[in-house]
Amino acid sequence: MNEQTPTVTMEKISSLCRRRGFVFPSSEIYGGLSGCWDYGPLGIELKRNVKQAWWSAMVQERDDMVGIETSILMHPKVWMASGHLKGFSDPLVECKSCHQRFRADKLTEQKCPACGGELTPERQFNLMFKTFIGPIEDGSNVIYLRPETAQGMFVNFDNVLQTTRRKLPFGIAQQGKSFRNEITTGNFIFRSREFEQMEMEYFVKPGTDEKWFEYWLETRLNWYVKHGIKREHLSILEHEKAKLAHYAKRVCDITFLYPMGWDEVEGLASRTDFDLTQHANASGKVLDYYDDETKEHYVPYVIEPAVGVDRALLAFMCDAYAEEPDKDETRIIMRFHPSLAPVKAAILPLSKKENLSNFARDIYKNLRTSLATQYDDTQSIGRRYRRQDEIGTPYCVTVDFQSLEDNRVTVRERDSMAQIRIPIAELKKSLLAKMDGENFLTLPPGGEVVQAKGKEA
Ligand code: GAP
Repeated sequence: MNEQTPTVTMEKISSLCRRRGFVFPSSEIYGGLSGCWDYGPLGIELKRNVKQAWWSAMVQERDDMVGIETSILMHPKVWMASGHLKGFSDPLVECKSCHQRFRADKLTEQKCPACGGELTPERQFNLMFKTFIGPIEDGSNVIYLRPETAQGMFVNFDNVLQTTRRKLPFGIAQQGKSFRNEITTGNFIFRSREFEQMEMEYFVKPGTDEKWFEYWLETRLNWYVKHGIKREHLSILEHEKAKLAHYAKRVCDITFLYPMGWDEVEGLASRTDFDLTQHANASGKVLDYYDDETKEHYVPYVIEPAVGVDRALLAFMCDAYAEEPDKDETRIIMRFHPSLAPVKAAILPLSKKENLSNFARDIYKNLRTSLATQYDDTQSIGRRYRRQDEIGTPYCVTVDFQSLEDNRVTVRERDSMAQIRIPIAELKKSLLAKMDGENFLTLPPGGEVVQAKGKEA
């Protein structure tokens, strides 16, 4: 069921991404590489902001969390112990006529969706990419590109415990690339073969895991809403007990209403002591916790919130996208939360005359040390506003000849199109305060409201 507002389609989002330099097909000049994408100049800023918003909330603003960055290539025994070598697979069928391959669990009919041909019986297809370590390409040197970042946290549990002397409950978080040789990819960056994850393993005392599961479910939902996702576009999908992954006691997906319908943006799993126990058994190392209070050793249980950066970014783009009638055209606005917007402010001088350019460039140079800022002096001011709206810039700062006299500039807010005129000396402080939630019409000393509600000529 697709209840997404009809204004937002995947076609519109992907074409805006292509047109404005958010996302390009990988190796495009060679025809692209299926399931792989490149982030362009604006896309990388947006992606870094999404990752920073997660890192701030999950690591930097908390006392019970530490970060880590582990290698993509890991000892092959990791994947044996974690169960991925045996169980990380999807059911695959192949069409006997056109030889296309499909995920059997995603088909609605028992015939080829491309040509109607007969399908082979199902077989399990392991999703891990294989490669070789070192110069000899034989079976003893096979290793895997990690299909999740999580195992990096488990195998470092004791290193982190010993070096940080943490007490339960505490979490280890990381962000990084993961790789899955998906049978079918699609829906733009929603399902790809190379993607980025933000995962956190929260180690708790057994018996408190259910309480912490609820806590993280609510905390993670709030994170999306705080950064601009509409609450009614988020939902929780509880996995049936009988169909749980090999490591899980309970799993909920946080689903988002993408243009193609509801689908998973984040998974929350209660992994019990499965991973630590498996790695302890396979490595022969002790991976437990000594509880000072109860004087006992035990293996902690784990609650894991796991997000795909690309899926979260796509959700933020879908909910930011808006269209408004504008004379004969349509005004496209990306209503990003200011913390996620790739560009926070644009400096727009009303003329290219040297005295004004120099003056405007000084403002730009000063502002960009604190805020991602663009300088744009080409075409009419109306066009420049539209360009900034389309990439989601929350504030446009126009510099006119009067600015040379009164040392003030006009600031226009993206969403309301309201305008205020404020002293240049107050600009940086004022914009930072507004990004932090201050009402746009709140004025610094020497400021005035030019237009409380926007209607541009
Ligand atoms: N460590 C647990 C784990 O990896 P998962 O549900 O398989 O769990 C977590 O993956 C998140 O990673 C998903 O919710 C999704 O956002 C993202 N993800 C998984 N496969 C993906 C793919 N092929 N393309 C893009 N994102 C993906």
